[in-house]
Amino acid sequence: MLMPTATARYAKAIENSKRMRFDIDRDVIRGRQFDFTKKFLPDGLSKVDRLVFLNAAEQRLLSQIQGRSYANIFGLVERFIAAKVLEISRDHWFGDQKALEALVRFGDEEIKHQEMFRRIESMVAAGMPAGYSFLPEPNAVASVVLGKSTWAVLGLTCFIELFVLAHYRESIDRDSNLSELWKDVFLHHWREESQHAILDELEWVREDAKLTPAERDRAVNELIELVGAVDGILQMQSEADADYFLKIAGRAFSSGEAAELRAGVLAAYRWQYIVSGVQGRFSEILGRMIDAAQNERIGAALAPLMQ
Ligand SMILES: [Fe+2]
Ligand SMILES: [Fe+2]
Repeated sequence: MLMPTATARYAKAIENSKRMRFDIDRDVIRGRQFDFTKKFLPDGLSKVDRLVFLNAAEQRLLSQIQGRSYANIFGLVERFIAAKVLEISRDHWFGDQKALEALVRFGDEEIKHQEMFRRIESMVAAGMPAGYSFLPEPNAVASVVLGKSTWAVLGLTCFIELFVLAHYRESIDRDSNLSELWKDVFLHHWREESQHAILDELEWVREDAKLTPAERDRAVNELIELVGAVDGILQMQSEADADYFLKIAGRAFSSGEAAELRAGVLAAYRWQYIVSGVQGRFSEILGRMIDAAQNERIGAALAPLMQ
């Protein structure tokens, strides 16, 4: 049967989603615990290897703290992503039934991922000293994000879900020394996210076609504001994570080392959630929607975060 191009892509996403679909207990956790003798977040993302005044055990601890926040950040963004996906599924209620099914599955998967990341947070918490705090609150962040136009929210979502894929492929999969359970969590997450990134692009392009040039111009500003809001979260959480590390590391650090640690964690978070996402496919998709002046505006806004 010959289907229109977009319908065929939605149908493919459904097919892949069915093949990749995981159960949190049966496929991911499988009765296991996190191995605290190993790192969680690989060096390619945590950049702990740049902090040369930390010994191997301290680098591992910092990778575990970062890995804990990494899971919490995805649980956080999935709150607004699920809500937006379910909202835009309305456009397909009486139209393309493949698109509707693909988006319902997408929303369902994000609700499951949030449950998985809550489980992980409680399992990791049980194995680490008290005092960690994850500061951003999912509903508060969602209400700010969802106050922006759909174009801007889909842009941010596409951005996030593309870098999720890149992180797994380029850093997590390649590191054979990570906690096996931690690695499996992100293997399964990556498999389901692969469909999301395709659907984000389809929906974002579909939304883009509805906008007037003036609406798009405003939406570009909103996307810039959203990336700024992400950076605000990173500044806040990197500070909290560095403080927690300094409290539980078990020795004193000089004020110079403490400052270097704080700067190193913020730089790692900016790498994870901003810089690594700006490269590659995202810029290609965005580049087809915006004009040169808008592109320059985005570049100027990102420049201070890219160092
Ligand atoms: Fe997810
Ligand atoms: Fe997703």
